[in-house]
Amino acid sequence: MAKLDVSIPDLELPDGNKIPIIGYGTGTAWFKTDSNSPKDQKLIDSTKTAISIGYTHLDGAEVYNTEEELGDAIKQSKVPREKLFVTTKVITNIKDIPAAIDISLKKLGLDYVDLYLIHAPFFAKEDPAELQQKWAQIEQVAASGKAKSIGVSNFLKPHLDAILETAKVRPAINQIEFHPYLQHGDLLAYHKNKDIKVAAYGPLIPITRGSGGPLDPLLDSLAKKYAVNPGEILLRWVIDQGVVAITTSSKEQRLSDYLRALTFKLTPKEVEEISNIGKSHHLRGFWNDKFDKDDRS
Ligand SMILES: NC(=O)c1ccc[n+]([C@@H]2O[C@H](COP(=O)([O-])OP(=O)(O)OC[C@H]3O[C@@H](n4cnc5c(N)ncnc54)[C@H](OP(=O)(O)O)[C@@H]3O)[C@@H](O)[C@H]2O)c1
Repeated sequence: MAKLDVSIPDLELPDGNKIPIIGYGTGTAWFKTDSNSPKDQKLIDSTKTAISIGYTHLDGAEVYNTEEELGDAIKQSKVPREKLFVTTKVITNIKDIPAAIDISLKKLGLDYVDLYLIHAPFFAKEDPAELQQKWAQIEQVAASGKAKSIGVSNFLKPHLDAILETAKVRPAINQIEFHPYLQHGDLLAYHKNKDIKVAAYGPLIPITRGSGGPLDPLLDSLAKKYAVNPGEILLRWVIDQGVVAITTSSKEQRLSDYLRALTFKLTPKEVEEISNIGKSHHLRGFWNDKFDKDDRS
């Protein structure tokens, strides 16, 4: 199999730490609904393959029930810990975040994670104090050294506004579903304004779940122009906007192909064209029970 010899560049987080701009995810396709189910050897092997290809940014979460596999792969890869960027997220044990990180670290077999995220804001109902209290708990985790950076996931403007009101440490990043068919209005501009970085999960949704949509012809013609796959055009569209892309694959060839997104740049006009056509269509892949069908926030 042809392997690309490219290293994944970093993006600087507002706290000064650095995050690789493409991450390998251990959720969605790898998700296990039962926390007692046996370890998934395929995930361990795939994660080791990803690391051997050059992925150092590994995205996990307690709710995926795959932290043990991620930990095994890290250990078996023999790559020095400091060369890896490991994320996990809290939601199941949100009641006690300092206890939750200890459980996650034990499963991962690590002393610290590079990034710890509140997985979603939806546990909080109306009162902003609920989010503020949880943010204070995640700040404690950062102070203990068990997480180098802290952030959130699936937060919208009102959730971020709430925690920014009382935060001592600002969220470094917000991991959201982000692709041309879900651009969230001016949410990206809001993040720039507040100096919070964005990571995109589900970046390939326009081809994995939205094929046949209005972007197909443009993705095909750009893929031809840059001699890559449409998926790499979507990853590049994310990266060219200063956003970190979190993707995954069970296939070595695809994981290697994704890295071709680092070998070219879209022109600003091409980024804009993809954005404009993308806005004509709406598709949300995750957390659909929390939003109305046409809600683009
Ligand atoms: N914070 C959150 O709430 C949240 C939510 C969802 C996901 N995430 C994170 O983000 C990561 C990535 O999410 P995602 O899986 O939705 O990302 P994605 O990059 O949009 O999709 C990756 C998936 O697409 C498939 N794929 C790639 N190219 C394809 C093609 N040309 N045709 C058909 N299928 C193709 C891959 O399957 P193959 O194995 O067949 O290649 C893989 O399962 C997750 O693993 C997780 O870590 C976070």
